[in-house]
Amino acid sequence: MGQPTPARTDRDWWRDAVIYQVYVRSFADGDGDGTGDLAGVRARLPYLAELGVDALWFTPWYLSPLKDGGYDVADYRTIDPAFGTLAEAEKLIAEAAGSGIRTIVDIVPNHVSDQHPWFRAALAAGPGSPERELFHFRPGRGPHGELPPNDWPSQFAGSTEPVWTRLPDGDWYLHLFTPEQPDLNWAHPAVRREHEEILRFWFERGVAGVRIDSAALLAKDPDLPDLAADPEPHPFLDRDELHDIYRSWRRVADEYDGVFVGEVWLPDPERFARYLRPDELHTAFNFSFLTCPWDAGRLRAAIDTTLAEHAPVGAPATWVLCNHDVTRTVTRYGRADTAFDFATKAFGTPTDLALGTRRARAAALLSLALPGAVYLYQGEELGLPEAGIPLESIQDPMHFRSGGTDPGRDGCRVPLPWAADLPYAGFGSREEPWLPQPADWPSYAVDRQRRDPHSMLSLYRTAIALRRVFGDGPLTWLPAPDGVLAFARADALCVVNLSATPAPLPAHSRLLLGSGPLDDTGRLPRDTAAWLRV
Ligand code: GLC
Repeated sequence: MGQPTPARTDRDWWRDAVIYQVYVRSFADGDGDGTGDLAGVRARLPYLAELGVDALWFTPWYLSPLKDGGYDVADYRTIDPAFGTLAEAEKLIAEAAGSGIRTIVDIVPNHVSDQHPWFRAALAAGPGSPERELFHFRPGRGPHGELPPNDWPSQFAGSTEPVWTRLPDGDWYLHLFTPEQPDLNWAHPAVRREHEEILRFWFERGVAGVRIDSAALLAKDPDLPDLAADPEPHPFLDRDELHDIYRSWRRVADEYDGVFVGEVWLPDPERFARYLRPDELHTAFNFSFLTCPWDAGRLRAAIDTTLAEHAPVGAPATWVLCNHDVTRTVTRYGRADTAFDFATKAFGTPTDLALGTRRARAAALLSLALPGAVYLYQGEELGLPEAGIPLESIQDPMHFRSGGTDPGRDGCRVPLPWAADLPYAGFGSREEPWLPQPADWPSYAVDRQRRDPHSMLSLYRTAIALRRVFGDGPLTWLPAPDGVLAFARADALCVVNLSATPAPLPAHSRLLLGSGPLDDTGRLPRDTAAWLRV
């Protein structure tokens, strides 16, 4: 197994970093109460250093009623007591830095928790008050105001629930997600000011970057009109005002050499790239790659579009296979439909995990060889599948707001297995963790995989340590048989066989790494990738 690559120390570290997403609640339980916490993360920093990641992105760890897994923030300057304290977060940031690992926090500017002091004050102050101007309060339509102010759809895919909730005093308030997540009014100067102070608060504590949740949703048409069939401009998605907001955020970040990664789900590459102009966000998640099916032509097109859209603005691409919102990679790739789409999620989809795992291994080598930064979601390096969650244990509001048809996102949020022979697979809990682990979880445990040179964990560790062979230049596609992707960067080649038959390898001097063994005649089997030295 290769040596871990030390984190880059130069200011451009984020351009080709490997960034590991920590879902704190499910990473490791330090105090045994069934919920992951900062103590758990601190204890596992050596694991993360050994894995070789450059930075950790923490999903929200702030004070929260956890109605949407912490994306309902009641106070940005307090750590939720379930996770620890601010002093502990500061220690964690410092200790991680000591291991060469930077920290990225998650800011959720579109909405706050209904327990946030601003929203409580707005409720108390009543209709027409200045406190309500920080949100979107409106009278209803209909003779008695009994109809919601407009027809906007919920931003939880598959949800038919309204985005407006009526209060006993007659006013309605807007929430693109759950009623416990009221949307802020970004036309209000106090909202902008407060968020810039929150950015400073965390940059002052040594964080290197900020992930921006739902980054394209903040700005709303002040008239809150109904959603037209083909709205131009859209009343709440990708509005031009956003760019001014992010330009002023960028000025704050630049004072600290901080970097942004935006959660920007937009189908139009040109509109997407606007967020990445040199005075706006540094990076954004590549959802076209994440949602792409396991198909050579489609993947190549996604890669080419990604590189072409980023080039004019000079921003590096990101490569993402999964996160806390989507189906685990090994499960998705083991299904008849290998694309990801919130709209088609269903209970009981047949899955071939052996096939999905083989493809996920190949996809890991593909993404780690591409130019740009790679995001890795906790458990991806263990090849964890999407877990089936017993109905009575489901927590995710996405499930409930779909009327029970969407399985929700808990299946990718199950507490990690660390040690096969310990209770709860070594997650650290003395009692059943907040989400139940499947019976086969111990077989994925870190301690088992660490000893096995063919495990997913060993593949990731080796690949992360080795990926610098690809240098920091562009890629050149090589001629390859149908269904095979092959490209060169620096002195190395990456070849991925997505066809149904074994493929001959291009000329090379040495096989550096394979996601699986070659066949008897030295060809690359289907659903396998190889890194070669030329
Ligand atoms: C983002 C988060 C998701 C959350 C939503 C609302 O999409 O990734 O987990 O539910 O925003 O904050």
